[in-house]
Amino acid sequence: MIWTTEQRYRRIEDARPDEVTQLKEKVKACKWRQTFHIQPETGLLNDPNGFSYYNGEYHLFYQWFPLGPVHGLKYWYHTKSKDLVHWENVGVGIEPSSYFDSHGAYSGSAIEHEGKLYLLYTGNTRDENWLRHPYQCLAIMNEQNEIQKLEHPVIASIPNGYTDHYRDPKVWKEGSLFYAVIGAQRESKDGCAVLYRSSDLLNWQFQGELSTNLKDFGYMWECPDYFELDEQGVLLFCPQGIMPKEDNFHNIYQSGYILGNKLDVNNLSMPHGSFHELDKGFDFYAPQTIQAPDGRRILVGWMGLPDIEYPTDNSGWAHCLTLPRELSIRNGKLIQQPVKELESLRGEQQNVEDLLNHDKKVYDAFSGTAFEMICHFENYDAEEFGIEFRAGEIEKTIIKYDAAERKVVLDRTLSGESVAEDYGTVRKGYLKAQKIKFHMYVDTSSVEIFVNDGEEVFTSRIFPNSDSQDIRFFSNGKTRFNATKWDYQ
Ligand code: FRU
Repeated sequence: MIWTTEQRYRRIEDARPDEVTQLKEKVKACKWRQTFHIQPETGLLNDPNGFSYYNGEYHLFYQWFPLGPVHGLKYWYHTKSKDLVHWENVGVGIEPSSYFDSHGAYSGSAIEHEGKLYLLYTGNTRDENWLRHPYQCLAIMNEQNEIQKLEHPVIASIPNGYTDHYRDPKVWKEGSLFYAVIGAQRESKDGCAVLYRSSDLLNWQFQGELSTNLKDFGYMWECPDYFELDEQGVLLFCPQGIMPKEDNFHNIYQSGYILGNKLDVNNLSMPHGSFHELDKGFDFYAPQTIQAPDGRRILVGWMGLPDIEYPTDNSGWAHCLTLPRELSIRNGKLIQQPVKELESLRGEQQNVEDLLNHDKKVYDAFSGTAFEMICHFENYDAEEFGIEFRAGEIEKTIIKYDAAERKVVLDRTLSGESVAEDYGTVRKGYLKAQKIKFHMYVDTSSVEIFVNDGEEVFTSRIFPNSDSQDIRFFSNGKTRFNATKWDYQ
C-alpha cells in the first residue's frame, strides 16, 4: 500500500469509523507479535523517549504513529513499569496538537524537577511549502500522569549556521543547572551535537557545538545522549551518512558512542577515543539512557531503523523496543548487559552439557519461540562453532564464533521472511577470546545476543515461521559446551 501525505498526517480522531478496530484485528492476527518486548498496539513505534524514574515508577514513552506501519504524524505513547520488565500501557502521552508540533511530537527526554516530570521534545512542523521548522517544546507531567504542554516552545529558533535538522533534546542536571544536547546539521551539511544550558528548564541559552575530533562524520546526528560513567564522559549519537568500513557501519544508519574525558561544559570540549557502534546487529537505533535510583546507567533502544520496510508492515504494525541494558565501562569500551530484573521472566529451566566433535546436535526440550539461553563454549579446537535457533527444515538463524578470523557472526540469510537484504544478511564483530559465552533473548520475531558478558551485542529482528523452533549446537572441530535455557513465563 502506498501512503499519501494526507494519510500519514492524520490524527487518531481523523481515522475512518472502524478503521482502528479493523487495524487492531489485523495486528492481533500477526504471527510475529512479540511476547516480552514493548510493541505498539497498532501502527509504528520508533525511538524511546522520556525514559525516566518518577514517582516510584519507570516511565518510558515512544514515538508512535497509530494508524499504520509508516512514519506519519508522531505521538508520544506512554508506558510505565515498577521493575523494567513488565510494562503497562498508559496511553497517549503527548499529542501533536498545536502550531508548534503540528507535524509531530518528535523525540525528546525527561527530567524530574520540583516534584513534576518535565518532558522536553522537538515539535516538528512543516509550512505550506513543506519546509521543516523545528521547535523545542516542553510538557509537564504530574503525579497523576497528566501531561500538560506549554503553549510556547522553550527554544523557538535555530542559531545561525545550522539547518532545520535540529532535534531530539536530551536533558540532564549538573549541580543546580540543566543541560541539553540536541542533534543538529551544520549549513555545510554535516552532523554535530549542540549544547544548551538552563537554570529552570524554561529559559535555555545556546552554548555552542560540542567539539569532537569527528570531522565529516555523516550529514546529521540524531538522538544524542550525554552521561558520565566511572568518571568518564560518554556521548551516544546516531550519525547518518557513514559508509561501511570492514565489518562496521553496515546498517542504513549508525548508532554508536565516543568515550573520553568528561565534557567541559564551559569550553565544550571532550577529548575522546574513536566512534564505536553500540550494537553489531541489524536492527538497533536511537537509544536513550537513564540513571536508575540505585545508580545504574540503563539503556533502551529502538529495535528498528528508519527508511526500511519490515515484514510486519502488511499486518499494520512495525517495530518494538529493546530490552533494558545496564551499561558499564571495561577496558575503554562500553559494555551492555541485560538488567538483572529480567531474570523474573525465567520459567521452566533446561540444562545440557556435551562435547561437540564435527557435528550438530539437538536436545530434548531445547526448542522454542520465546526463551532466554546462556551458552558457554570452552576448550575449543574448532575453526567454527555456534548455535542455530528458530530453525526448521530450511529456516535458521545462526550465531557462531569464527575462531580462525576471531569474529562473532550473526547470519540471518535464512531466518525467514527477508528484511533490508540490500544491506547484507550477515553481521560480524571482532572478538579475541578463549571462551565464548552467548547470552541470548529470543522472542517471537527478535533476538538480542550478549556476547562475553556484553563485549558485543547483536540485536536483530527475524521473521521465521511459527513452526521453526529448533535449537541446534554445532562445531566443525572439538568443542565443549554447556547451555541453560529458560522458557519465557
Ligand atoms: C530518529 C528520528 C528522530 C526524530 C524521530 C521522529 O529515529 O528521526 O530524529 O525526532 O525519529 O519520529
